[in-house]
Amino acid sequence: MGEKNLKRRSLIIKILGVVGSKRKNGNTSFLVQRAVEAAKEEGIETEVIFLGDYSIADCTGCEGCKDEFKCVIDDGMQKIYPRLLEADAIVLGSPTYFYNVSADVKAFIDRCYCFEMFAADDRSVWMGVNEVLGGKYAVVIVVCEQHSESDMGFAAEGMAKPLEALGYRIIDTVKALGLFKQGEALKDEKILEQSAKAGKRLAKTLKLRKELEIKWGPSLIG
Ligand SMILES: Cc1cc2nc3c(=O)[nH]c(=O)nc-3n(C[C@H](O)[C@H](O)[C@H](O)COP(=O)(O)O)c2cc1C
Repeated sequence: MGEKNLKRRSLIIKILGVVGSKRKNGNTSFLVQRAVEAAKEEGIETEVIFLGDYSIADCTGCEGCKDEFKCVIDDGMQKIYPRLLEADAIVLGSPTYFYNVSADVKAFIDRCYCFEMFAADDRSVWMGVNEVLGGKYAVVIVVCEQHSESDMGFAAEGMAKPLEALGYRIIDTVKALGLFKQGEALKDEKILEQSAKAGKRLAKTLKLRKELEIKWGPSLIG
């Protein structure tokens, strides 16, 4: 990330919505968009991307990224990386596929491995690039067809744990149960409201962070 990006980050607050279902008019899509809209209403700059619009290869485990936070695979992720670095927060949504996240979300997360750095002499010492940048925030949204949370399996943790490892604090996890057909989420006022509330809280967290940075940052660091 160049100096220009660092400067930009300090002036504008931005949230990136990431939809991990290929159904653009599906439930994950509408709930991620609802959360992001609510953040926009709080005055935050937002963008929503659909992972299905990008070709994202699986991480090969080549470790080629380990010198400079850059993945060597030249595909759609190269368009997503700068957006991730620019954004102060992420709203990541996935449908539940066999008790876990979708393959697109898994590939996306694995390819963020380039943002994880390990001490050269001790792999038990590591941190995400977002920690170097001062920490970021996230909302996780999971959708499933069944009505019991156990049928969601590991999908929520499958996103929350890696995001935490990458230096995002999870502000909210929205678990949408009982949604099967495309767009059913639009008729579910309760889950729409829950998603909006999560987006709003995320926005307010970012605003508080900015306020505190401006008010206390310089004096705290002397
Ligand atoms: C391959 C596949 C696996 C699924 N596995 C589960 C599951 O384990 N548990 C569940 O409750 N629903 C499961 N579903 C249902 C979807 O999670 C549900 O239809 C969801 O609303 C899809 O989200 P979308 O509209 O954003 O694509 C599965 C659907 C597919 C296509």
